[in-house]
Amino acid sequence: MTPNFLSPLLSSLLFICFGCVIAHSGRPWRDSGWGTIVLEEAWATPDLLEDAAAPPLGHSSSQTTFHNIDFQLGETHAQLNANLLDIHHQRLRRMDENDIDFMVLSCPSPCAQGLADPDAANRLAYSFNNKLAAAIANNTARFGAFAALSMHNATEAALELNRTVKELDFLGAMIFDYQVSGPNADRFLYYDQPEYDPFWRMVTDLDVPVYLHPRVNAEPVLSLLYKHAP
Ligand SMILES: *[C@@H]1O[C@H](CO)[C@@H](O)[C@H](O)[C@H]1NC(C)=O
Ligand SMILES: *[C@@H]1O[C@H](CO)[C@@H](O)[C@H](O)[C@H]1NC(C)=O
Ligand SMILES: *[C@@H]1O[C@H](CO)[C@@H](O)[C@H](O)[C@H]1NC(C)=O
Repeated sequence: MTPNFLSPLLSSLLFICFGCVIAHSGRPWRDSGWGTIVLEEAWATPDLLEDAAAPPLGHSSSQTTFHNIDFQLGETHAQLNANLLDIHHQRLRRMDENDIDFMVLSCPSPCAQGLADPDAANRLAYSFNNKLAAAIANNTARFGAFAALSMHNATEAALELNRTVKELDFLGAMIFDYQVSGPNADRFLYYDQPEYDPFWRMVTDLDVPVYLHPRVNAEPVLSLLYKHAP
């Protein structure tokens, strides 16, 4: 049975068609009939938050930095971090309070796209995916996952996507605008180039959605647009 029930859902946006989508897929999940499915819900591991606590190193940094996290009024940094790390407590409670049937978790921006070293980016994505799979394993009726992927090498990204979908039952991937690359972290890889064909071929073969998430612009673009207004 195909686990990727979100794929037809996302591509057609047929939110009223839950019944037929479920019937088509074998994956059991909680469907109250009136609840919501939410996407791009960030989940962090403690090591990701340690990186986030480091002083900002600039957008072309080889470190994982979390410039995009939008801190809400009324919650402290510590509470927000605790919320990011949690799955089964406040998060589930808030889902119940807000009629959310199912949540798809993913890595916060820029995740592996912030790491210029390909091995480090691969390791981060692989380890994040395994930890997330383990963390939701006891409640897949309420939680699913989008894979984190290093986008340095399209073939390796394709294989990791395949692994997460086929072996970890992930529903697709979330990748961020561009992959930082190069020894000085000053190269920016965009995924519409021909060398990414093997990745997009795998996406098509697996028939899963890829969520292309925005992130802070690459430094040259940022300077061009905003240097006059630091
Ligand atoms: C899943 O495991 C977590 C961590 O041990 C626990 O807090 C949670 O209650 C468990 N959920 C279910 C549905 O068993
Ligand atoms: C991408 O990864 C594959 C598989 O590991 C490898 O064979 C290939 O040489 C890599 N491509 C580049 C451009 O490094
Ligand atoms: C995708 O993963 C499955 C399950 O591990 C494996 O059998 C299959 O060979 C993989 N496909 C590719 C193209 O590597």
